[in-house]
Amino acid sequence: MNPETWKQELDELFPQIVAWRRHLHRHPELSFQEHQTTAYLEEQLRALGVTEIARPTRTGLVARITGGRPGRTIAIRADIDALPIQEENDLPFASENPGAMHACGHDGHAAMLLAAAALAVRHAPALCGELVCIFQHAEEIPPGGAAELYAAGVMNEVDELYGCHLSSNFPTGTFGVRAGALTAATDRFDITIQGKGGHSSMPEVCVDPIVTGAEVIAALQTVVARNLRALDPAVLSVCQVSAGDAYNIIPQEMAITGSLRTFSEEVRSQVPVLMERIARGICAAHGAECVFSFERGYASVQNDPALTRRVEEGLVQWFGADHILHIEPLMPGEDFSALQKDCPACFIEIGTRNPALGTDKPHHNPAYRMDEEGLRWGAGLLLSIVAERLGS
Ligand code: NI
Repeated sequence: MNPETWKQELDELFPQIVAWRRHLHRHPELSFQEHQTTAYLEEQLRALGVTEIARPTRTGLVARITGGRPGRTIAIRADIDALPIQEENDLPFASENPGAMHACGHDGHAAMLLAAAALAVRHAPALCGELVCIFQHAEEIPPGGAAELYAAGVMNEVDELYGCHLSSNFPTGTFGVRAGALTAATDRFDITIQGKGGHSSMPEVCVDPIVTGAEVIAALQTVVARNLRALDPAVLSVCQVSAGDAYNIIPQEMAITGSLRTFSEEVRSQVPVLMERIARGICAAHGAECVFSFERGYASVQNDPALTRRVEEGLVQWFGADHILHIEPLMPGEDFSALQKDCPACFIEIGTRNPALGTDKPHHNPAYRMDEEGLRWGAGLLLSIVAERLGS
């Protein structure tokens, strides 16, 4: 099958892709609650002739399409959950579920993966190997649905993993490609400084957690600035501070909370050790106690260089080199990383930005809109991967 044949079939399927996306957009469901979404996806997959469908977790599903000949097993993952946002768009297919909205484009991800399944099942006898379609629940809320699916064994015997995200950061008709670290690891830290409260007029009999905490906050900035190589990116931000209830009472304790974003496992492991050392050292100097905790969120998505190069070659062959953007790392987190532990993976960004259509609003915004033309490009990406990796 040459790219032109696939692209023609994709064009014929395009109105259906839009219809799938609009149905999902109209009926958004929050993370870990995607019951109707999962039921709808199963119904559509069965109508396409897909028979091997499993539900290894409460929501989300995995469909398998086996080719007529032996070959490798590739998995493509689409996330399917919506956000707790009240939609502010006046669209005929706007959210009918108050307080929930597909404001990140996951409705489009599911529709594109249905398209890949539709054409893969149609051409299954000619395919070599197996396509595993992972419709993943709960990307938006840590610990995330990917970790649950991984624990349920969906990645067993998968040779290669692929994923994508629609993005209003890039123009429609472009693919954002990057080898190596693509998204940041997103972690949280909590520091509680326990002092000794008392009257504001007599600090000499107290241990002031606020003065101690202020020093800790300032000194935490030296972790990135003075301890990491300039070439190792990290962002450490203190975002929540709380202490005290009255103007004339030195409080008992102060709580400091913040986030760490990193791209390499080495830096991700190193930073909390340095943070804890600084916080404990300053607390000890002032006679305060320090409780330090660090909670790992999503790991960084790491694109395998060889796999990414092959995907890019496929995109150049299908669409031309002028549609490729070589992008910088992205700071948002993405739990696709939880699925990529045992096999090489590649995650691509798909442009949907078109100011003329008003689809240039940021994701997670109540007025977010998608340029549905981006679905054609994104489904094309998935088909180029299926054709390239499972083709004869
Ligand atoms: Ni998203």
